[in-house]
Amino acid sequence: MNRRYFYITNWKMYWAFDETTDFVIKHFDDLIALSKQPLISIIMCPSAPAIYPLATIFKDTPLAIGAQDCSDQHKGAFTGQISASHLGSAGAQYCIIGHSERRRFNHETNQDIANKCIQLITADLSPIICIGESQEENTQGKTLLILEAQLAPIVQALNQQQAHMDNKTLLIAYEPVWAIGSGQVPTTNHLETVFAWISSYLSKHLPSPTPFLIYGGSVTSNNLDLFKDNKHINGFLIGGASLDFQELEKIVKYRIKAR
Ligand code: PGA
Repeated sequence: MNRRYFYITNWKMYWAFDETTDFVIKHFDDLIALSKQPLISIIMCPSAPAIYPLATIFKDTPLAIGAQDCSDQHKGAFTGQISASHLGSAGAQYCIIGHSERRRFNHETNQDIANKCIQLITADLSPIICIGESQEENTQGKTLLILEAQLAPIVQALNQQQAHMDNKTLLIAYEPVWAIGSGQVPTTNHLETVFAWISSYLSKHLPSPTPFLIYGGSVTSNNLDLFKDNKHINGFLIGGASLDFQELEKIVKYRIKAR
């Protein structure tokens, strides 16, 4: 089980700048200790105003900072948007794109997300690309069709960007929309089917190494047994549980103990 594991905290729009810095300063030593474990990467994704202070606080440590979204445009008259290169200059090394909350509330399309992916790669940031089906699509047995529709433009974008892929860590987060913030988690069978399918789809359509696959949606320290035998899962995108340091620590330590 010597695989690298990613723990990504998605702090959404929960904490203001000072609440975020208070949290990381309070837990600084413990966060550093956790992040120094071998084969573990912790990526903290605060709301945009906290990116620069966190990048400064964690400079020269193994902890990385990510943004929660970026513009699909490079530069110019796009009031209110933040470009991938501006996020990079503020210290972000990663960026979540395609989160279901952005697809839903900001009407982002699969193509918009592929365009953001290109912006990130050209700006030298690593994308964390979220995909996942809704409850209705799941009930109708459309999960894999939806995932394919979401992945196809991403795969095309990644293939176009091959020349810029060196040293980029690509992450794809499978987050069933119905599992996000609901306390509901998929069965191990569902996870097996979906992750095996994503993995084989990516190996068919992308040169290796293919992106790391992670899971997100109601991950807590109490449901980690569900994921432990799935050989495709290389970490978690954690929302609610990552706002509680003890929970985050338990989630990261669960695997350290299991190794
Ligand atoms: P959750 O959020 O862990 O609170 O379900 C996950 C996410 O939205 O990325």
